Amino acid sequence: MRAIGQDSLGGPEVLKIVEVGRPEPGPGEVLVRVHATSVNPTDFWHRVTGGLAGGPIRLGWDVSGVIEEVGLGVTLFEPGEEVFGMPLQPRPAGTYAEYVVTPARHLVRKPASLSHVQAAALPLVALTGWQALVDTARVRPGHRVLVHAAAGGVGHVTVQIAKALGAYVIGTASGPKHDFVRGLGADEVIDHTRTDFASAAGDVDIVVDTIGGEYGPRSLWTLREGGMVVSLASPAETGLAVHARALGFRSTFMIVEADHAGMREIAALVDSGRLTPEIQTVLPLEQAARAHEIGETGRTTGKIVLTVAD
Ligand SMILES: NC(=O)c1ccc[n+]([C@@H]2O[C@H](COP(=O)([O-])OP(=O)(O)OC[C@H]3O[C@@H](n4cnc5c(N)ncnc54)[C@H](OP(=O)(O)O)[C@@H]3O)[C@@H](O)[C@H]2O)c1
Repeated sequence: MRAIGQDSLGGPEVLKIVEVGRPEPGPGEVLVRVHATSVNPTDFWHRVTGGLAGGPIRLGWDVSGVIEEVGLGVTLFEPGEEVFGMPLQPRPAGTYAEYVVTPARHLVRKPASLSHVQAAALPLVALTGWQALVDTARVRPGHRVLVHAAAGGVGHVTVQIAKALGAYVIGTASGPKHDFVRGLGADEVIDHTRTDFASAAGDVDIVVDTIGGEYGPRSLWTLREGGMVVSLASPAETGLAVHARALGFRSTFMIVEADHAGMREIAALVDSGRLTPEIQTVLPLEQAARAHEIGETGRTTGKIVLTVAD
């Protein structure tokens, strides 16, 4: 089968089409024919650093496709069913490929209203938003939620999930993206290029920080009593936890995990019309390097999707 591989760590140019053996599903696993996958910043990081493996891995965590084969004992799916999910994260999943083997319960049925391209855009970013808001910060109706980079991959779905859960949502985005972020349901949008978000936002219960660096500690100044910063980037070096403790707030670093229950909630939000992915760019698998170049600008609105099969 065709997949994207790399012989060495480096820039987008190291990515190339390789021919590799088709994987076989073991007990509890399924083989999925991948129709689309999507691009996330963790892919860029793994391409450059190799992550925990320290060397090249097969990239990609999002998948939307069709069950080709089920392994021994799998009762959840049958061949021919359309599924989507974020398998194996944080271990490598290798979804930049024609086929992928995953534990059956890392997937759920694809909502009929979504194309494979749309479905592939959602799992990693939507699970991140769901696990940050629900599992980590325990968001409740009426909570005030500040979402940094609200127009980005994680941000644009986190705004929608927070609204669906009854929160009041403040997002940060550059001026030209404000209409888009309001259209997602945000109650307020702060232009981070002109305004200091730490003075413009207040009485916040939950901050979802996708930016990192000084954003974590500065976000503490927007919180009200009992508030929490959930950091998705740069956990340690800013001393976020120390600052938070000193000010009497909670903070934590979170890494998204494969999550069957979370995927069911995400599919339900799609089915009820409360969660829709925004797709900025669609490219064929062979153009993974181009997709990385675009993504690495850090200016994406919504998601970049790679198509694999029709
Ligand atoms: N810990 C985890 O499990 C986890 C999971 C998913 C993602 N992440 C991390 O979260 C980060 C974001 O991921 P993503 O997929 O959302 O990335 P992305 O789609 O590339 O984010 C792009 C967006 O960021 C916005 N942006 C850039 N600088 C900003 C700033 N200073 N203030 C506000 N918005 C800003 C841009 O909007 P403008 O052009 O308007 O500035 C753009 O729309 C990455 O670092 C990723 O690694 C972590």
